[in-house]
Amino acid sequence: MSGTRAAEWITQHEPDAIERLKDWLRIPSVSTDPAYKDDVRRAARWAADHLAESGFEVRIEETGEPAGSGHPIVLATAPGADGYEGPHVLFYGHYDVQPPDPMDLWRSPPFEPVLETGADGRERLVARGACDDKGQVHTFLEAMRAWKETGGPVAGGMKVTVLLEGEEESGSVNLERYVEQHKDALGACDVCLISDTGMLGPGRPAITYGVRGMAYTELVLHASNQDLHSGAWGGKIPNPLNELAKVLAQLWDADRRVTIPGFYDDVLPLGDDERAAWNKLGVNVEESLAAIGFGPDADVGETGYSFIEREWARPTAEINGIIGGYTGVGAKTVIPDHARAKVSFRLVADQDPLKIRDMFFDWARERTPPGCRWEFIDHHGGDPATVATDSPTLSAVRDALGEAAGTEPALIKTGGSIPIAGLLKRELGMETIFAGFGLEDDRVHSPNEKFDLDCWRLGARTHALIPEALATVRVTPA
Ligand code: BES
Ligand code: MN
Ligand code: MN
Repeated sequence: MSGTRAAEWITQHEPDAIERLKDWLRIPSVSTDPAYKDDVRRAARWAADHLAESGFEVRIEETGEPAGSGHPIVLATAPGADGYEGPHVLFYGHYDVQPPDPMDLWRSPPFEPVLETGADGRERLVARGACDDKGQVHTFLEAMRAWKETGGPVAGGMKVTVLLEGEEESGSVNLERYVEQHKDALGACDVCLISDTGMLGPGRPAITYGVRGMAYTELVLHASNQDLHSGAWGGKIPNPLNELAKVLAQLWDADRRVTIPGFYDDVLPLGDDERAAWNKLGVNVEESLAAIGFGPDADVGETGYSFIEREWARPTAEINGIIGGYTGVGAKTVIPDHARAKVSFRLVADQDPLKIRDMFFDWARERTPPGCRWEFIDHHGGDPATVATDSPTLSAVRDALGEAAGTEPALIKTGGSIPIAGLLKRELGMETIFAGFGLEDDRVHSPNEKFDLDCWRLGARTHALIPEALATVRVTPA
């Protein structure tokens, strides 16, 4: 089997591959901060060159309006070997990363990748993007390289379109337009494959079949036309920080349910079968809590749902930031002229981000504190997606993953969001298969992000085996 040969090649050439990944990680492709615009483009170029070396036909596509105002998309294609009748795969990943802040908490600089052995004895690569998502995309890139180096057909003979986005971490704001404008090319694909999720634990591979959606908003509460002395004015007029805190505190009831009317209307209920299956996965709540510094008493959330059910099946409202007044060193007595909060909602199928955003703004408007005025900002949103688990394509990917891991993969969901999945389902009726290799302790989005080499190895082996596994699948037209 040539997939096995490609997998062996990966094992034999691992140090070179890891050096290549380090090169990519050295490029600070922070998509949310315009200061990194050129770096983001360099990271796109890097991936494009890698794919070209593996025999793909590659284009760098501009995004945004005007064109080029967004970050580029890397689009690469492999035609499929003669006689390939398996599904046309759309492999999606993102090459942008989250900002590295707060900088002082990194043990080594975020864009100077370090290979180290953790206290648990596991080898790992530490850098921003090591896991999310460059490290995971790289497992696919190296599998493609391995097929080429071992004399196989491009992409192992699989018919594949590769789409690497540069704006996932900043809300995929230009992706919807891109998908709409490239409906023909993308619609020709049968299924999307993504490595940007996690496993159940070390040595516990998993296929994810659901991601949550997102509505990200910001509220600014404007009050007086100037900052005020808190002795002269406190208690006489509304303090926007006090008032904002009082409004936000009304977002949850005593059962920790979101109080916005209609918020749960479109939530698909959690079925008994699903619940039973999740209970059998053996998720260790106390261990998960202990790893982030909590005791068992921190297992709190919406009444009636377990730890894992709250992440995989229920929507949430979260304050992500509160800004206002004096935040410098020492104490200053002041009533500021405005206060600000960043509030996001994680959504589940079939909630609609735009509907939720409007409901929230209406809810806040009804609670406008006396004398004050709201400013509402809509940052971005993304649809939730629950995908089919009964397709032959998913079974084939699961087999390849199982073979690479030497153990049967579990079926799980995640609380995170990957906007393209819901978009592809809505615009093109396309299903997604999430085969991810991250671990809960990878510190994605946080300082000291890491990716275990064992996870990288599993990813690369899996992607080496997928082309042959898919070649035997026949897609029935919908
Ligand atoms: N890869 C993550 C999503 C993820 C996180 C999946 C953890 C599984 C486990 C992705 O890059 C991400 O962070 N997405 C953002 C999307 C948002 C900016 C719309 C998220 O979930 O916050
Ligand atoms: Mn990601
Ligand atoms: Mn991310």
